[in-house]
Amino acid sequence: MKHLIDIKDLSVEEIDNLIEVAKDIIANPENYSHKCDGKILATLFFEPSTRTRLSHESAMLSLGGQVLGFSEAASSSASKGETVSDTIRMVGCYSDIIAMRHPKEGAPYVASIKSTVPIINAGDGGHNHPTQTLTDLLTIKCEKGRLDNLTIGLCGDLKFGRTVHSLITAMSRYSNIKFVLISPDELKLPEYVKRDVLEKNNIEYCETKDIEEYMDKLDILYMTRVQKERFFNEEDYIRLKDYYILNKDKLRRAKEDLCVLHPLPRVNEISTDVDDDPRACYFKQANYGKYIRMALILKLLEVK
Ligand code: CP
Repeated sequence: MKHLIDIKDLSVEEIDNLIEVAKDIIANPENYSHKCDGKILATLFFEPSTRTRLSHESAMLSLGGQVLGFSEAASSSASKGETVSDTIRMVGCYSDIIAMRHPKEGAPYVASIKSTVPIINAGDGGHNHPTQTLTDLLTIKCEKGRLDNLTIGLCGDLKFGRTVHSLITAMSRYSNIKFVLISPDELKLPEYVKRDVLEKNNIEYCETKDIEEYMDKLDILYMTRVQKERFFNEEDYIRLKDYYILNKDKLRRAKEDLCVLHPLPRVNEISTDVDDDPRACYFKQANYGKYIRMALILKLLEVK
């Protein structure tokens, strides 16, 4: 049985295949509307979510399946002290596949050891968010037409932003990828990601605090929210939360075909005056998320 815990669980060929299936679903949704008849997806969200939970549920419903689950730990027996392992054993009796988000890093991996059905990591603490990365890859492929030869700016909370860690890991496997890491000192990319992913794979990167310094070089600008829920003290969060606010003026030197992405939710880091710029792709990105999750569910359930 296969799970998706880390984006590295998928080979480049498997990712490319998921992208092709997702593109076919977008073009021919009617061909997929009964592929999961009789199947049940459980969404176990021990942390808040809008896009990830609802897009998984929408994906399964559009495949003809059904959904059940909970959207906060407080409404599950975790609030009475039940362990993740025990919860997963039970939910495996009620469903065919589980998408799970948890504040503790590694919790979906622990769940996968005990599970009798495939587990999808829908975000674990500040660690990984592989289905967001699949969403990002499908968006880049559809909007830029390629996954290689790209200069990618990553801006904001690179320390706690799990989407950034997973995206760097995934993109480092394609050729001629360069990263510009844009963050304040306090929110720099963790050393282990630099060492184990960027340096190990000889990926070119530079670090800056200035969002405008390399703006004219970027093919992708991936904005991120400062992750309030991972901070130990409110004062630091308040000091850093508005460090970057992308607006039309900051985009004046950007390429005409720049693609501005954001996993969402946004707080203040992208001004709403950017929303109607043709380079703003973050709402399209959220839409792509449903189709890549449909492709993923089909793969993990081994539906032809
Ligand atoms: N991008 C993302 O994970 O959004 P949600 O927290 O709303 O699921």
